[in-house]
Amino acid sequence: MMTTTTTTHAITAEAFVAALDAENRALLDELGRKSAAGQAGEALSVAALLKLALRNEYEAADLAAAWMADTRELDAKLALARQCGDEAKHYRWIEERLRALGVDLGGFDPAAPGPSPLLVHLRGLTTTVERAAAGQFTREAIAVVRNDVFAAFCEERGDPETAALYRDRIQPDERHHHELGRRLLCTYAVTPEAQARARDAARATLRIAEEVQELARLKAGVCRAPGC
Ligand SMILES: [Fe+2]
Ligand SMILES: [Fe+2]
Repeated sequence: MMTTTTTTHAITAEAFVAALDAENRALLDELGRKSAAGQAGEALSVAALLKLALRNEYEAADLAAAWMADTRELDAKLALARQCGDEAKHYRWIEERLRALGVDLGGFDPAAPGPSPLLVHLRGLTTTVERAAAGQFTREAIAVVRNDVFAAFCEERGDPETAALYRDRIQPDERHHHELGRRLLCTYAVTPEAQARARDAARATLRIAEEVQELARLKAGVCRAPGC
């Protein structure tokens, strides 16, 4: 009689990251399609979406700082430090752009609405491999997709300056953060257990991002919003 045994073999970290990238890609394409879907109402202005972007950049900087403080691996710690500084820089660039558009940010507090569901999820991740998979490899890929949709929207609304801010200055950093996540995964996603944790964290990140995006559309008619 033949018997079958199931053993779990670790695939190489590189093969794992390539597979995760492909899985993410399909979901990211869907997320981008939904963000760009339908008509953006006249009330939905570039400035209103930039204010949402401030909150996203603030949360991204805050999270990177919190993670940096309790990460032991030096490469991951320095990647988070770099990301924290970049997100803070994006915050200032977006503020500058809003002022140029005539928006008064006096009294504006990006933390006022409380932590977003995505931040709550990400804060709960404790291992470097999960953080790299969710916070950098996946969340930063979401940002790149959303920022592309937003830049196209800025062009449509006759605001090439804001489109250029995203395309030429912010997007190269967001791509770099995504690549930092890829590098960390190649170093740390080396066991079946680490790979499973990384995949689960990435899946949850995309699921929550999509739920939040769809809820914002239904509740407030928000679409084409930038990421972080
Ligand atoms: Fe980023
Ligand atoms: Fe950013």
